[in-house]
Amino acid sequence: MTANLITFDLVAVVLTAAAWLAAGTTAASRLSLPAAALTALGLLLTVARVALTVLLGTSGGWWFVQEKVVLELPLQCVTAVAAVALSAPRLTRAAMARTALDGDTTAVAVPLFAAGYAAAAGLVVTLLLGYPTTVAVALITVAVVVLAVVVTWRLLDGRPRGIMLSAGGTAVVLGLVGVLTTFAGIPKTDAGGGPAVAYPAAKGMSVASLTGPTSPRPGGTVRRYTLDARTATITLASGKRVAAWTFDGKVPGPPVTAVQGDLVEVTLHNVDIAAGVSIHWHGYDVPAAEDGAAGLTQEAVTPGHSFVYRFLADQVGTYWYHTHQDSNQGVQKGLYGSLVVAPRQAKAAPTDLTLPFHTFGGTAVIGDHDGVETRSAAPGSPVRLRVVNTDNVTHRFTLAGAPYRLVAADGNDLNEPGPLTRTALSLAAGGRYDLQLTMPSASVALLADDDRSGGLRLVPGGGKAAAPPDTTAWPDLDLTSYGRPAAQPVTSSSAFDRRFTLVLDQGLSLSGRTKGRDWTVNGHTFPDVPTLVVRKGDLVEMTVVNRSLATHPWHLHGHSVYVLSRNGDPVTGSPLKLDTFDIKPGEVWKVAFTADNPGLWMVHCHNLVHASKGMSLSLAYEGITEPFDMAGMHGD
Ligand code: C2O
Ligand code: CU
Repeated sequence: MTANLITFDLVAVVLTAAAWLAAGTTAASRLSLPAAALTALGLLLTVARVALTVLLGTSGGWWFVQEKVVLELPLQCVTAVAAVALSAPRLTRAAMARTALDGDTTAVAVPLFAAGYAAAAGLVVTLLLGYPTTVAVALITVAVVVLAVVVTWRLLDGRPRGIMLSAGGTAVVLGLVGVLTTFAGIPKTDAGGGPAVAYPAAKGMSVASLTGPTSPRPGGTVRRYTLDARTATITLASGKRVAAWTFDGKVPGPPVTAVQGDLVEVTLHNVDIAAGVSIHWHGYDVPAAEDGAAGLTQEAVTPGHSFVYRFLADQVGTYWYHTHQDSNQGVQKGLYGSLVVAPRQAKAAPTDLTLPFHTFGGTAVIGDHDGVETRSAAPGSPVRLRVVNTDNVTHRFTLAGAPYRLVAADGNDLNEPGPLTRTALSLAAGGRYDLQLTMPSASVALLADDDRSGGLRLVPGGGKAAAPPDTTAWPDLDLTSYGRPAAQPVTSSSAFDRRFTLVLDQGLSLSGRTKGRDWTVNGHTFPDVPTLVVRKGDLVEMTVVNRSLATHPWHLHGHSVYVLSRNGDPVTGSPLKLDTFDIKPGEVWKVAFTADNPGLWMVHCHNLVHASKGMSLSLAYEGITEPFDMAGMHGD
C-alpha cells in the first residue's frame, strides 16, 4: 500500500508539473481554451496531490510525507492559488468567448509557470533529498523557484523591471544561505534521545583491545583453521569457469564448524587480494576486535600479511563469514563461506547440509553447484538443510516433496514452528534459514527462485529424482505470524534507553560527499551518517523506515535484534531474533536489542551495492576510541 502510494504520488507530481507548465506555455501563445483547460487540470492534480499525501502519511507515517507537508505542498498551494487568482479570470473569459487571449499575456502566463516550477521543484526534492527536509533545503528550493519565475518573467516581458532585480537578488541570497547551512552543522552522533556520548572518545579503550577468551569452555576444543585469501579460477559443477577471489582456492571457502563451547581460531592470510581482505563473522556476536570490519575494528589485511581471529563458539546455529574490506566486490567474487556451530548435547541429523546460495554473473550456485545437485537420504531419516543467502538480493526458496518446518532463522531457533507445505521462504540477503524434514520414500526438491533446472534433490537410496512441481504460485511464509509466542527479553513495552530512527532512501547526500543518487540513511551517506551512540546495558529500539522503491536487507553487527513490529503490526508468532531482515519498499520495522557487546559496530544494508553507495553507518559504545581508517570498507 505505502509503496504504491509513493509511486502514485511520483506520477502525480510529474503530471502536475507538466499541466502547469503546459498551461503557461499555451497562455503565452494566446491559446485561451487549452490554457484554461490545463489550468483546471493543474488545479485538480494539485488537489489530488494533497489527498495522496494525506493517504501516504496515514498509511506509512510522517517519514514518508515530511518534505511534502513542510515544503512541497505549501509552495505548490501558494503558487496554485496565485495562478488561479491572477490568471484564471482572464483565461476563462477568453475561453468562454472562444477568442484568443488578448493584451499582455505575461501577467497570465507567469503565475502558471510559477505553479509548474513549484511542482517540478517538489519532484526534485522528493527524488534527490527526501527525508528529512531541512531549512537549508527549503531555502534553496524557494530560491530556485523564485529565480526561475523571475527569469521567465524577464523573457516574456521583454524589459527589465526593478522588482525583477530585487526578487532575483533576494533569491540568490536565500539560496546561498541555504547552501552554506547545508554544509554546516551535520551532527557527528545520534544519541537516540538518551544521554549524550562523546564519540570517538578522546581517551578510552581501543576497539582492537576488545578481544575475548583464548581457551575453550570446559569440555570444548580449539578449532584451528588457516584461510588463504587468493585469486583463483574456479570450475563449477557444470564445468563453467569463474575468475574468483577465494579462501583457499575454493568457492565457497572451507566450511568453518565447531561445537558449542569450542574456541574457533582462524588465521587469515592474504596471498594476493590487492584490495585487501578481512573476515566478518556474519550474525556471530564476537568480541569487537574479532568482528573483521576493516577500517572500524582492524586494518584491512594486505597481501603478504595475516590476522588471527579468535572467539568462543557460544551461539549454536547457521552463520557465515565473508570479507569486510571492499565487501561489495569481495563477496560478489567469492570471499565467503559458512560457519555452523552444533549444540554440544544433541546429535546431528544424518543428513545435515549447509547450502550457501550465491550468484556469479547471473548463474545461481548452491555450494559449488550450478544446475542440479543430487544427494541421497534414507527414507524416514531426519534431514536438516541450512540455506545461507550470500547474494545481494532476496531469494525465494521452495521445498517440494515433503512437509517441512522452518526451525531456525539467522541461527536462532523458532518456537514451535508448524509444518509447511506448498509454502515459499523468502530469504534476505545475508540471512539464513534452517529447514527440517523427514525424508519420505520419494524424492524431495529444494528450488531457488522457483527454478526447476537447478537446486538440490534428495533421493531415497540411489535412483533418479522426480521432476519437481511448478512452485511459482506458492505463497511466501509470513515469518511474523509463524510459530508460537514465547517470552523474550525486550518487547515494545520495554523501557527503552534510546530510540533510533533510520530512514532509508535514495538521493543526494546532504553533506555533498558523494555524487549522484546514492543510497542514504536520514539524508546522509557513509561516513556522514551520524554514529548511533549507546552505553553498555542500554535497551535500544531501532525503527527502520524504507522510503525508497528497493528492498533493503538491514544488518547490525555484534547484536541480534528482536523484531517488535512491521508496519505497526506486532509479531504474533514465535519470537523473531534476527541479524538481517528485509525491509521492503514502504515498510517500517521496529526492532530492539540490548547493548551488551561493547565496541564499534557496522549497521548497514546487506545489498552490498547499496552499502558501497552510502547505505551504512556505525554504532559506538561509550568510551571507545576510533583507531582505524574506514576508507575501503564496502568499496564503490
Ligand atoms: Cu555480512 Cu557488515 O556484513
Ligand atoms: Cu539496500
